[in-house]
Amino acid sequence: MSRVTGDEPTTGCRVCGGTVEQWCDLGRQPISQDFRDPAATDPEYFFHLAVGVCLSCAMVQQLEQVPSELMFHADYPYRSSGSEFMRRHFAGVARRLLATELAGPDPFAVEIGCNDGIMLGTIAAAGVRHLGVDPSRRATETAEAAGVRVRVDFFDEATAREILAAEGPADLIYSANTVSHIPFLGSVFRGAATLLAPDGVFVFEDRYLGDILDNAYFDQIYDEHCYLFAVRSVQALAARSGLELVGAERIPVHGGSIRYTVARAGARPPGPEIAELLAWEREQGLHRPERLRRFTARMEQIRADLVDLLRDLRAAGHRVVGYGATAKSATVTNYCGIGPDLVEFVCDSTPGKQGLVTPGMHLPIRPPESFADPYPDYALLFAWNHAEEIMAKEHAFREQGGKWILYVPKVHIV
Ligand code: SAM
Ligand code: TMP
Ligand code: ZN
Repeated sequence: MSRVTGDEPTTGCRVCGGTVEQWCDLGRQPISQDFRDPAATDPEYFFHLAVGVCLSCAMVQQLEQVPSELMFHADYPYRSSGSEFMRRHFAGVARRLLATELAGPDPFAVEIGCNDGIMLGTIAAAGVRHLGVDPSRRATETAEAAGVRVRVDFFDEATAREILAAEGPADLIYSANTVSHIPFLGSVFRGAATLLAPDGVFVFEDRYLGDILDNAYFDQIYDEHCYLFAVRSVQALAARSGLELVGAERIPVHGGSIRYTVARAGARPPGPEIAELLAWEREQGLHRPERLRRFTARMEQIRADLVDLLRDLRAAGHRVVGYGATAKSATVTNYCGIGPDLVEFVCDSTPGKQGLVTPGMHLPIRPPESFADPYPDYALLFAWNHAEEIMAKEHAFREQGGKWILYVPKVHIV
């Protein structure tokens, strides 16, 4: 099923072959969403999680990338629709795209990484021709049940050619939190250049390097985030496939993301925000080693403070439970060495994660009902990007004296 192409640079930067300078090392890490049966005895897959910046094209990337098939397979457990906020977000995105890029006669939309159909469900309900491409079969079964057409596959240049032959050009290729997860980026962009109609656009949202550095979001670094995008690196990447970055909108999703719009070179005038964001990135020294070293120092401080706090709380006889068995939490728990001695278990609403243990540190995962049974003294919020939604849902926890621990941008209790 997978067609991971072999035509990317094999040394240096995975985009351009340039020299990559390492700037952040998170050590030995497991596959972030490889939740395990507590009784499993087979060895876990570990890799060296370190990030570097390309001195030529500025793409921030992992030095060792985990093969896509090990992360994204039939049983990939992440379900986009687990958050009410994200359901509203993607319904809004779909409505906006229906009113703009998909407003012409017989439009065709392709989504890369449609997961459980959180975005395409609205497109399908509007009767618009569409196709989701995603290798995670269990998740796509949910999408299909909602009327979404899916090709269970990895999107790449070869897939794009087949879709073009079978369905014609796409007016829109959309993707959220997926493009940065694909090691073979060149193939994805050549695929987009192949599949797009002459005036079509490739719109994708991904976490923004600027927000990650500003807020010391070190836990946004995990296996799936092969790249941390910025306007400068995405602009250079698009240009390599005859495409052009024409739009970049900062959005308050997952701690701060950018929605990039890419068109065929010369097809649409670039928005003024691109030059503004490029100037901001330059001023901030976003890709400069000093900036990145400051981030590493903050990350090390967070580790020291968080481990001290958890040890003190346990020593004082307090119970601490985690909330959200996120991919991010794999980085936090493995980098900080947080096991069941410090955090009793982690609550998560995803049925496919419950009853299993977290990768590497083996914290048990329980349904949210276990949270109140009885309430712990402190809850460590791993799903901090859903803080508002989770704290509102669990308001009774604070009302009876419970406290939330957050660890970014620094360790604090609320
Ligand atoms: N778009 C959803 C969202 O924003 O919540 C899902 C994001 S999830 C983190 C990433 C999804 O991308 C997974 O469902 C995964 O199976 C899919 N994926 C990974 N590599 C892919 C590829 N090369 N082509 C298409 N989908 C891919
Ligand atoms: P994410 O940060 O990668 O989107 O993952 C969020 C995780 O948190 C996911 O496993 C679902 C879980 N979660 C809950 O347990 N309760 C909630 O209310 C929300 C919004 C998420
Ligand atoms: Zn490069």
